[in-house]
Amino acid sequence: MKILSLKAREILDSRGNPTIEVELETHKGKFIAGVPSGASTGKHEALELRDGESRRNGLGVLKAVKNIEEIIAPEIINQDVISQNSLDQLILDLDGTEKKSKLGANAMVAVSMAACRALAAEKDVPLYQYINELFNQKREQPLALPRPCFNVINGGAHAGNDLDVQEFMVVPQADTFAENLEIGAEVYQELKSVLKNKIGPSAINVGDEGGFAPALKYPEEAMDFILEASKNKGLQEKIKFILDVAASQFFENGKYKTQMGIFTGVGLANYYFDLISKYPIIGIEDPFAEDDFDSWSLLISRLLPIRQAGKTPAYPAGRQVSKLAVVGDDLTVTNQQRIKLSKEKEACNGMILKINQIGTITEALESASLAKGYEWKIIVSHRSGETGDDFISDLAVGIGAEFIKSGAPARGERAAKYNRLLKIESELKQ
Ligand code: PGA
Ligand code: ZN
Repeated sequence: MKILSLKAREILDSRGNPTIEVELETHKGKFIAGVPSGASTGKHEALELRDGESRRNGLGVLKAVKNIEEIIAPEIINQDVISQNSLDQLILDLDGTEKKSKLGANAMVAVSMAACRALAAEKDVPLYQYINELFNQKREQPLALPRPCFNVINGGAHAGNDLDVQEFMVVPQADTFAENLEIGAEVYQELKSVLKNKIGPSAINVGDEGGFAPALKYPEEAMDFILEASKNKGLQEKIKFILDVAASQFFENGKYKTQMGIFTGVGLANYYFDLISKYPIIGIEDPFAEDDFDSWSLLISRLLPIRQAGKTPAYPAGRQVSKLAVVGDDLTVTNQQRIKLSKEKEACNGMILKINQIGTITEALESASLAKGYEWKIIVSHRSGETGDDFISDLAVGIGAEFIKSGAPARGERAAKYNRLLKIESELKQ
């Protein structure tokens, strides 16, 4: 495949901050990619290059744009790109740093994504199928739709309220993506009415990912409102929860400072066990800070004996916790070293996959492959700052991820991903 041109520009993300869009041209057409950006980023993520000057509050990406046009473009224009792997390797060599600090992971991922789209077009296959072929070089994986996780109440760094938990995600349990989307949307709309009636009109203001941001303090309150909304619609048996605690955000001097009080890792683990016993929670993402491996291992080690013995745990009473996914995000940052370290420490049994955390499609697929080898659950994820780009939907299908999270079933940049999945599901049925 010959690349005819490669252009980059600074555009707006969903928060109104600068981000990158690239346009890569081959004889098959022009292929566009938009780069997302996090607010609660992990400290081990690859570097997102920002200009850091007074313009745009330091958030400009003109240096990264320049890196694409002046460093990457001259190396790939008019060259024959034979594979995703060779293209990504070339970009990695041009950067040559561990954290992608020369070119910027945002610059690199933009080119990698656009090239992936162009390579799929070259083969005349949909993007998800091309990604599946890339991934199948490593392991057999049939095409299937991921289960969506809808972030219906926002807290933490994504909202102006006191909720410590960043994301309260509703995970519908129906069999098809279309049904799951409908359930998510019904719960979301009913939650809007419940919050408005019970708290007042300001409770339906939304956070960065389109979920409501009511002035609540405790996780229990948030889940109670969601359950009430689900019940009103007769859907309470059809939903589960995944929480993204994003605990690095409130970890200070070895302690977790929350609205519920100040916890040690052990104290917070006990609190989670209590929550799991009371609510239908199937996953907790970033329950502890990114380097607090002891607490992660403690939570998992309490779950492991239960799983191995295959019997009802003595603690917590009642609910089956053996299936709980303990999911790394800031912990694992889509980085093979961090994933291996987390496995060694038995810190988690699931992970978030975000391509901009690592910088190239090839590396993201390698990370996914590693996690699959460990039999971890994978949640392909958007970022809190997004564009209309729906690449992650094809990625989730291509690698056979169990889950995808793309915020609430509302707001254009979030809906774009869910709508793309609807289309893929209907294509696969034909
Ligand atoms: P971020 O949050 O995109 O702001 O980093 C998403 C997450 O923590 O999963
Ligand atoms: Zn997270």
